Amino acid sequence: MNRRSALQLGAATAAGIGLVGAGWPLADALLGSAEAGRLLRSQTRLPAPYQIPLPVPEQLRPVSTDAAADYYEITQQITKLRILPDLATSAWTYNTSFPGPTIVSRSGRRTIVRHRNALPVPVVVHLHGGHTPADHDGYPVDFIMPTGDHAVMDDMARNSVVGQREYVYPMNQRAATLWYHDHRMGYTGAAVWRGLAGFHLVHDDEEDALPLPRGHRDIPLMIADRSFAADGSFRYPAIETGGVTADYMNGVLGDVVLVNGAPWPVLHTDPARYRLRLLNASNARRYRLQLDPQPAGGSALVQIGSDGGLLAQPVSHDFIDIAPAERVEVVVDFSRYRHGTQVRLVNRLGSETTADVMRFDVVGTDRSDDSAIPERLSTNLPELNPQDAVTTRTFLFRQGKSGVWTINDSPYQPGRPLARPRLGTTEIWRFVTEFHHPVHVHLNSMRVLSRNNRGPGQFDLGWKDTIDIRPAEAVEVLTRFTDYTGSYLLHCHNLEHEDMAMMADFVTVD
Ligand code: C2O
Ligand code: CU
Ligand code: CU
Repeated sequence: MNRRSALQLGAATAAGIGLVGAGWPLADALLGSAEAGRLLRSQTRLPAPYQIPLPVPEQLRPVSTDAAADYYEITQQITKLRILPDLATSAWTYNTSFPGPTIVSRSGRRTIVRHRNALPVPVVVHLHGGHTPADHDGYPVDFIMPTGDHAVMDDMARNSVVGQREYVYPMNQRAATLWYHDHRMGYTGAAVWRGLAGFHLVHDDEEDALPLPRGHRDIPLMIADRSFAADGSFRYPAIETGGVTADYMNGVLGDVVLVNGAPWPVLHTDPARYRLRLLNASNARRYRLQLDPQPAGGSALVQIGSDGGLLAQPVSHDFIDIAPAERVEVVVDFSRYRHGTQVRLVNRLGSETTADVMRFDVVGTDRSDDSAIPERLSTNLPELNPQDAVTTRTFLFRQGKSGVWTINDSPYQPGRPLARPRLGTTEIWRFVTEFHHPVHVHLNSMRVLSRNNRGPGQFDLGWKDTIDIRPAEAVEVLTRFTDYTGSYLLHCHNLEHEDMAMMADFVTVD
């Protein structure tokens, strides 16, 4: 692939403006449908479900550590993975796995990750949910160019480097389930689809003091749909330079559901409580997750956390809706099932192969369990008061006249911020949509105040960094901007919408 033209295309953002122009009437037609995305079918025989044990990504060991920080190294490279029974999948990986290795940080202790780029394309790393200084946040034109490349920087490239870069994360934030992923302008959808995503967990003292399930009963679950090409590689509808094609700009939906990189895997569980950290790392697919069968008495999923960490108290659900990039942490008590029960985690929004996610087989015999779900979880949730808001800003998410996705009618253009909030102030942001958009804001978490002038929805609990907004909805959130000045992003986390320009800068100022 020609890197120069790829970068230029990204720079023009719109993978859209020239090449995609012909696709608008089609895009209009898609807009009529309620489904945010279009199914891309695999060209291989699909694996049978419930054959593969659930993989749990390895925890990354620091290469060194000092009084104030832990240092990590990751090489981004092409790796042949074993996902399908008879074919290798050539993936883009952090180190050599998909998901990438899990980074575990301590709140208040600096984490420094050196990323080397051994892929054939520029990359950008973003820590999603991180409270991170702007220069380390993975701004979409702060590239790490491929190693050995002759620094073919585009005009758009901002703080770009060749070969490797160090990301410094102060980690002054609550315990939470974060994730890291690629964020290159115009190409995030393709890059994440090919494997550039991993967990980054933050722990703190408050969480440690709670009797929640831990160790091998605390499991991150990265749910991501994918499709496979005939040669076993991930199939993605990309134009020659790598961006998504116009006919899939609504979102790419796969027909295989991977959990931690394995198709419809199985976990053998003890009859005991488990903490499951659910992450929807799909490009565009939403899930309504439910256990089948439900245990006697129902409400099997006890939510304890969301994007920004623990809730104030647990909330029981019969099912959980989760949009791209959202995290929901639940405790499931498998002792409520008879020994030997096969409990499927199903997707009530899916059909055919995407109606299944994974299975828990309650076949273990270790009943010992000193965990509990305390009535009171977190007492340090920052309280914000809508009365303190200094301003209300409205952001309109819709398809623009030119056909690309826009925020306030602007397709993304780096360096042209839509807002300049002042550090230390609280603002109300109002997101208005005409289509389904999971809206994500970098730097600070938000609290949902209202949906269409009613109260928050049942999945808006706690501190959120990604909020699923349905067609023709207005959602008000409250947020306070803290600590770091600079350019941050506000965007739709449907990755095809993001790549097709539904992104904006905001600049925090002193
Ligand atoms: Cu998870 Cu700006 O992204
Ligand atoms: Cu983010
Ligand atoms: Cu969107």
